[in-house]
Amino acid sequence: MSENESLPKHIGIIMDGNGRWAEQRSLPRIMGHREGYKTLRNILLFASDVGIKFLSVYAFSTENWKRPKDEVDGLMSLITQAAIDELRVMHQNNVRVRTAGRIHELPESLQIALERGVETTKNNSGIGFTLCINYGGRAEIVDAVKSILHDGVQPDENAISQRLYNPDLPEPDLLIRTAGEMRLSNFLLWQGAYAELVVSQKLWPDFTKEDLLDAIQQYRLRIRKLGALANG
Ligand code: FPP
Repeated sequence: MSENESLPKHIGIIMDGNGRWAEQRSLPRIMGHREGYKTLRNILLFASDVGIKFLSVYAFSTENWKRPKDEVDGLMSLITQAAIDELRVMHQNNVRVRTAGRIHELPESLQIALERGVETTKNNSGIGFTLCINYGGRAEIVDAVKSILHDGVQPDENAISQRLYNPDLPEPDLLIRTAGEMRLSNFLLWQGAYAELVVSQKLWPDFTKEDLLDAIQQYRLRIRKLGALANG
């Protein structure tokens, strides 16, 4: 198997541990999210450099609305500001931005910033970056089923796959979760059905390029083993 054949094409990341990172330093939780944002910027550009074609990250789940109002408001303004501030860098680096989730339920200023990012970068041919925001895997399946009922078509797997938030994206090959938790937490439930899972003990703000390479290496070893079994 050649080097590139075993490189995951699409990586999904559950960026967990921002709160713990802040709490360990007696800082407000939002400071952990700020630091997590810096990590995300570095990891996205590095993933692009190493040849990953698609990166999807869990920025805000449908369950995260239950958090204290000041944390939710802080996250919404952090993500809005980031979407505005990072657009130039994204575009310069040929990143194509997409969103996944119930975007229409987000604050209007955030919807506008996201729409601008998606629209500006839609013809870029570099890494596809999907921000999963107000996203839930179950909600995504429910939305797909509603669309099937509306269209009156046969409810088979293909009909659901075609009605996901981004039907053009390939399924993730590798899902990484940080901060040691071994759960999917409603992330990419449908499309992650066959993804390899790698859990890192690092809190997301501490996650480095080397940690990403390490996760990719774990993925490659598993894929190689599967290939050897299939061939042997
Ligand atoms: C989980 O950590 C993280 C989140 C709910 C938010 C993720 C958001 C970011 C990394 C910032 C994103 C910024 C942009 C621009 C997309 P947690 O708060 O659940 O951590 P804990 O489990 O330690 O409490």
